[in-house]
Amino acid sequence: MLTDKIKPDTAALSLIREGVRHMQGYVPGEQPIQTDLIKLNTNENPYPPSPAVLEALRAITSDALRRYPPPMSQPLRTCIAEIYDVPVSGVFCGNGSDEILALCTRAYVEKGRKIGYFDPSYSLYPVLASIAESDTVEVTLGDRFSWVDPPLDAGMDLFFLTNPNAPTGMRFPMDRIALFCERFDGVVLIDEAYVDFAEEDCLTLCRRYANVILSRSLSKSYSLAGLRVGYAIGSPALIQALDTIKDSYNLDIVAQRLAVAALTDQAYMQNGVRRIRKTRAWFEKEMIARGFALYPSETNFVWCKPPSGLSAPLYVEALRLRNILVRHFTAERLAPFVRITIGLDTHMEQLLRETDAILEEKHD
Ligand SMILES: Cc1ncc(COP(=O)(O)O)c(C=O)c1O
Repeated sequence: MLTDKIKPDTAALSLIREGVRHMQGYVPGEQPIQTDLIKLNTNENPYPPSPAVLEALRAITSDALRRYPPPMSQPLRTCIAEIYDVPVSGVFCGNGSDEILALCTRAYVEKGRKIGYFDPSYSLYPVLASIAESDTVEVTLGDRFSWVDPPLDAGMDLFFLTNPNAPTGMRFPMDRIALFCERFDGVVLIDEAYVDFAEEDCLTLCRRYANVILSRSLSKSYSLAGLRVGYAIGSPALIQALDTIKDSYNLDIVAQRLAVAALTDQAYMQNGVRRIRKTRAWFEKEMIARGFALYPSETNFVWCKPPSGLSAPLYVEALRLRNILVRHFTAERLAPFVRITIGLDTHMEQLLRETDAILEEKHD
């Protein structure tokens, strides 16, 4: 009987790879079921995706669903290659940019070599390194989370460079990034998940240096976090390595078609980005006026420290009680800060009203 074969949990545990048994998985921001919350905790875009995306969704036939999708997402790669004027052989498409980051750890890092990244930056990197059983080099950012040159002789095969950085929202100086890419003899993955909100991107660096690969996301600027599409641009040799190890059909047909529709409507994306940047500029001034310390954001979120007397965890909890979700990280250096996604103007107005009430209560 089948039940005879079920082992007690402790025995089953021994079946799991040692490294996985002891590792901490990635902790995503909360995705609540409750729908009446103002959700400013996972850097989603408050505007709907381009109408062309919904049109493409409606045009999907049952025949398209019945068949396997193009294995290399060819139409999508061609679309991206045309937008950025790069060869199709220099474009890769992933199931979210997260998949691209994971594939990089498997494609470029030799056994016994290391994976580097800044601390703080995207908290997925150490998890991916754990899964790949690679040691890590954490390069601690300077005062005010500013750029520090990563070491060149630390045994790293891959360096994840988030630009603009998360969760701080700040962009690093282009000349320092370029110099590092030139000197480093491993692969530099520049994670540009937020770059459409920034003043400058690193596309020129992946044209100039064969060891540089960019990853980008449709989750933020294109309002398609639910679709799970990211893409990478790099030298054909780096891209081909990702192709070799990816799942056969890593992007489903819906994702491929809708991503083409979204990317083709660049004007819509740019317009949405302009609105978010405008809201961000206004919101930053309002928060500074209330005594918050802010970092210069080039993303769709702000990184801020509440005024003295109001701790970040207390502020986050008080907002939560008022149905507003923002993000708090518990790591020691991050704990005094709060990350707030830029939502609709009405969301930010509500957040400011609640913040005033919280600050008022604090003085009672
Ligand atoms: C820095 C950074 N890179 C990558 C991602 C993942 O993006 P995607 O939704 O394309 O997997 C995120 C998501 O929040 C991020 O903050």
